[in-house]
Amino acid sequence: MQINDVLLSRSERLVFQLKQLYLDNGFRSYRMSKFEEYDLYAENKDFLVSDNVLTFTDTNGRLMALKPDVTLSIIKNARNETDKKEKIFYNENVYRANRNSLSYREILQTGIECFGKLEEMDICETIRLAIESLRIVSDDPILVLSDLSLSETIINKTGLRSEKQKELFTILKEKKIHELEDPATESGLSEETRELLKKLIRCNGTIKETIPRIEGLCTQSGYGDSFIRTLKTLQNEGLDRMIRIDFSLTDDINYYNGIIFKGYIPSYPDPILSGGQYDRLLKKMGRSGKAIGFAVYTGLLETNAEKKDSDDYLNIALPKGRLGENVYKRFAKAGYDCPSMEEDSRKLIYEDAVKKIRFFWVKPTDVPVYVERASADIGIAGSDVIRESKAAVYEMLDLKTGFCRMAVAAKKDFEDDPGTTLRVATKYPRIAEAYYQSQGRDIDIIELNGSIEIAPIIGMSDVIVDIVETGRTLEENGLKIKEEIMPISARLIANRSSYEYKKELIDRLISALSEKKEERA
Ligand code: PRP
Repeated sequence: MQINDVLLSRSERLVFQLKQLYLDNGFRSYRMSKFEEYDLYAENKDFLVSDNVLTFTDTNGRLMALKPDVTLSIIKNARNETDKKEKIFYNENVYRANRNSLSYREILQTGIECFGKLEEMDICETIRLAIESLRIVSDDPILVLSDLSLSETIINKTGLRSEKQKELFTILKEKKIHELEDPATESGLSEETRELLKKLIRCNGTIKETIPRIEGLCTQSGYGDSFIRTLKTLQNEGLDRMIRIDFSLTDDINYYNGIIFKGYIPSYPDPILSGGQYDRLLKKMGRSGKAIGFAVYTGLLETNAEKKDSDDYLNIALPKGRLGENVYKRFAKAGYDCPSMEEDSRKLIYEDAVKKIRFFWVKPTDVPVYVERASADIGIAGSDVIRESKAAVYEMLDLKTGFCRMAVAAKKDFEDDPGTTLRVATKYPRIAEAYYQSQGRDIDIIELNGSIEIAPIIGMSDVIVDIVETGRTLEENGLKIKEEIMPISARLIANRSSYEYKKELIDRLISALSEKKEERA
């Protein structure tokens, strides 16, 4: 055993190797302060992963922040020399809020930034270094690559106003092809554009598999061939094996443009590398030229990367209760049965070692959590639960079952007085808040976990925001629907990393489930 293996932790060893890689490729080290003036982040909020920034006042009374990001500081402090190229690497801590909690954590990032007078070869070099960085971390990495400018060109072609275009970006990001058939989305889209958008969502795979389709997308949308040229260069360098093209990878178009990418390693639910071109950020900060860079979240690897062995099972989270049982029957008909599940038992995990499938029975509201964390590769959840959870997952299929509605209900004689704060009892605080925010209505949310109908009866709330299926619960408790918020049905969701590693398994299941649906129709 070498001395380094004893003295250095895994992430320290990785950082050491990454720094060596960047030095060998002509990048120079850049060190910065932990603090930055808060204004930098306030002005560029959309560029940050989260709005939550840790702030404090310094001895001069200035509002400062613990850095949530490195790129903004590097660009802010860079020299503005139009004819030069800057190649920088860093190893810095950033401070970010934890997912779904109010606490913060320190995350070590190691990365590079390349900006100024860049050429196409600099873009290719950065992508190659991203892959080499991932290979230092894992033997089986995947770099997911997209050209944001191509997606933007296609979405711009719709001619829709910017709010509607944002919705189309969300559809693309979450792979919600089924929403392109929804009358609410469809309005304003020509048949040709709708088909083009579907092709964009479906265009994923290796460079070899996708190049002909990308060429078609470029021709149809009138987009140039720079992306194709980059892909061919990467292919010629023998990197195709580790690259997946996927246009569902999108980032804020106010900051990014052109190629963006995320790096995955097996069994880790989130990207461990993230990067892309950000000429627009450069311009926004008064600098000229082009820019590209990436960060490896080296700090996260210390604890999480070795968390769980990768497996070749398809792990499926089903919601306990009627919806889950119905959906399981649909899975069984499509050839995804698990005989031991049909025995009378209270087990929560069932697996079929021959078919390599594993089912988890979980609380319906927990399905998105299992999927977002990649403990389940896919799951079935109502669109209400998915929207409320805000989980970063793909929503790949509308199973057209489990139909109900999200509605506002109140006592039959309730008269709303817009001059008062409306007291809303609900199990869905995010959906309720978004709904009333869109109406500019001041509300007081009363979060409950069940039997919501009681709240207005005993005067604890004015209204409820809840799901209505048959309407029987409302009727039997003397309540009635006042407004409908959205229709609901069961959806198949998938973890983003699992989709890259188990694409064939997941696509095959989706197509089997879709065939059954058509047969029934
Ligand atoms: C849901 C919902 C309503 C009821 C609506 O409750 O919160 O109470 O179903 O169904 P209906 O329109 O067919 O009457 P759930 O059964 O999940 O129980 P809960 O009250 O414990 O949340």
